Amino acid sequence: MKKVIVFLAGDGIGPEVTRAAVTVLREAAHEFHHQFEFAEFPIGGAAIDAAGTPLPNATLDACRKADAVFLGAVGGPKWDSLPVGKRPESGLLALRQGLGLYVNVRPVKLFEPLRGISPLKADRLGDLDLEIVRELAGGMYFGERGNVVENGVERAFDTESYSTSEIERIATFAFARAESRSRRICSVDKANVLASSQLWRRTVTAMSAAYPGIRLEHMYVDNAAMQLTLRPSQFDVLLTTNMFGDILSDAAAALAGSIGVIPSASFGSSAPLFEPIHGSAPSLAGTDTANPIGSILSVTMMLRDAFGLSLEADWVEQSLLRVLSGGFRTPDLAEPGARTVTGSAFTEMLREEMQRTLEHAERYGWGV
Ligand code: IPM
Ligand code: MG
Repeated sequence: MKKVIVFLAGDGIGPEVTRAAVTVLREAAHEFHHQFEFAEFPIGGAAIDAAGTPLPNATLDACRKADAVFLGAVGGPKWDSLPVGKRPESGLLALRQGLGLYVNVRPVKLFEPLRGISPLKADRLGDLDLEIVRELAGGMYFGERGNVVENGVERAFDTESYSTSEIERIATFAFARAESRSRRICSVDKANVLASSQLWRRTVTAMSAAYPGIRLEHMYVDNAAMQLTLRPSQFDVLLTTNMFGDILSDAAAALAGSIGVIPSASFGSSAPLFEPIHGSAPSLAGTDTANPIGSILSVTMMLRDAFGLSLEADWVEQSLLRVLSGGFRTPDLAEPGARTVTGSAFTEMLREEMQRTLEHAERYGWGV
């Protein structure tokens, strides 16, 4: 298979975790005889420094032509004083917009060896395996905003707004996703207060008639946050808005042990984008302590969901599970007795384990 993949390493720990993604994709290409062509472009703070803008035209053009895009992370204290719209984060938002990405999927699944570091007790945690389907192109992130001065008092505003068609296209994706999982959707809104949420709930309810095999329930976002903490295993697909999805996905990630292990995939009208959800973690940058797992699982989503390469994706995931079962951990996952290793050492161990998986495919029950 021939694919062009654009890498946007970005800021902070972005370059470190991007290296892990490159390593895994190189191995997959080598062992399975794929031709993956790699290109690198600047985004975020790095692009502000190099080109004066967080999303240079050349970066967006290259992404539009790619088969898939991988992004490390953007942002950092160096650019914190810049106004909204000029910050590194606006490069990511412009990229999402420029690629027409309206779907963001964030799977939150417990790796059994990490059960002990979840902040939830084992009986509450249960079988944590859910997916947050976050609307990515609308809502407050892209609604009208501004600053005004009224009678000498400054006021700033952001607008939450959704149209029926914006709700329908993200819900269509969520219903399809639920078809391939346990056929349950929980749609999260704030319909007891917000007009946009009332339209959201009405639209999703109307659509559910076309999916008689799927059980749809609705939940207010405050209750959903509580239920996630009390009994996350009640959820399968969580369908929600841009803003609520941003907040709930960090909360859900903590349950899996660390935000460092959660990947994401975004889809829309052009190239799909794959990124770990952890952000640029400036305090960790350059220390080789960043957890590469979010990045690695974003690559397995790329292999499976963008290229249809499930065998390769299973190969990486099974190998990763065995490295964790061996007790190896980056510092964010360390617990007493764990063998703490650097991010790059962890990636190297995974690469070696991937080799062993190939050698012992039958014994490991992979690809047979
Ligand atoms: C995320 C991040 C981004 C968001 C930031 C970096 C703009 O928090 O992907 O969850 O808010 O969407
Ligand atoms: Mg976020």
